[in-house]
Formats: sequence, structure tokens, C-alpha cells
Amino acid sequence: MSGLAVYPGSFDPPTLGHLSLVDQGLTLFDRLVVAVARNSAKASLFTAEERVTILREALAGYDRVEVDSFEGLLVSYARDRGATAILRGLRGTSDFEYEFQMALVNRHLEPGLQSVYLMTDYRWLYLSSTIVKEVAAHGADIGDMVPPAAARALAEKFRKV
Ligand code: PNS
Repeated sequence: MSGLAVYPGSFDPPTLGHLSLVDQGLTLFDRLVVAVARNSAKASLFTAEERVTILREALAGYDRVEVDSFEGLLVSYARDRGATAILRGLRGTSDFEYEFQMALVNRHLEPGLQSVYLMTDYRWLYLSSTIVKEVAAHGADIGDMVPPAAARALAEKFRKV
């Protein structure tokens, strides 16, 4: 595989699991666009701008990776960016139903765009942005779950509230 893939998500906040998937994706694709969804159905802790800033710091030095945000349909954004694939991670069967549905809807909307799923590294199987937020909200250390930029942003967010 080669070319450009879009790796979309809420990234609220990005975790080490997300960064690990970027590393995996770069073994298959020439370039990746990590794309923060602005209008995700989920309520987010961080604004899209904050999530983009965290990701840009975490991925500084990755010259084949761009961080962007998008609004509206993922397939329209991916088409506009000239992507040939959508990259997503799978942690286990609990992710599967939703991801399968999303991949089929996206294929229906844009048949030329392939969805590529990579298995999350076993070290991050238990991780999710939701779990990280919950742990951080209770003041526990999440330094080994998220990149430093996200740890700082979480500490700041929960100091304020
Ligand atoms: O990290 P997430 O929350 O699992 O990411 C989900 C995301 C943002 C990739 C998905 O909700 C999405 O693609 N949203 C954009 C709107 C869209 O295209 N919906 C149709 C496909 S489900």
C-alpha cells in the first residue's frame, strides 16, 4: 500500500494508542492526515482546536504526518484531500460492530475509498480516551497513557473545573 490515508477520530484527548496506530500506519502509507472530527456526535472535553494543538505537539517531527480537522462527512473530507484510504484501529470485538457499520456506510457513500483497520498494539488494548478522562478527572497519573501535551492539557482542564 502507498499514497495518502486519513486517520480520523475524536482524539478527545489523543492517547498513546492513537500514536502507536500512526506508527503502524506509516509502515503502509506514504503520508497520513490525522483528522480531528469537529462535529462528532459525542460531547467533547477539548475543543477541536485544543485537540489539533495536542496532536501537533505529539506528532512534531513526523514529517510524513499532517494534523488537520474536518467538519461534515468523513468521506467528503477524505476525497477532497485525495486520500485512497481511511485508517482506523481495532482494539477488540467491542469495537468491531461500530467499525464494521462505519466502514460499510463509508463504502456505500464513496466506493473508491478503502477502510483499512490495524490491530492496536497489545500494550494499549485497555486504553480509550474515555477511560483516560475518567482517571485524570480523579487526579490519578495518566502520564503513561497519553503524550505529554495531552497530560498537561488534562491537568489544566481538571484544575479549572
Ligand atoms: O474517535 P471516534 O469518536 O471513534 O471517531 C469517529 C469518527 C469521527 C471517525 C466518525 O464519527 C466520523 O467519521 N464522523 C464524521 C461524520 C461521518 O462521516 N459519519 C458517517 C460515518 S459513521
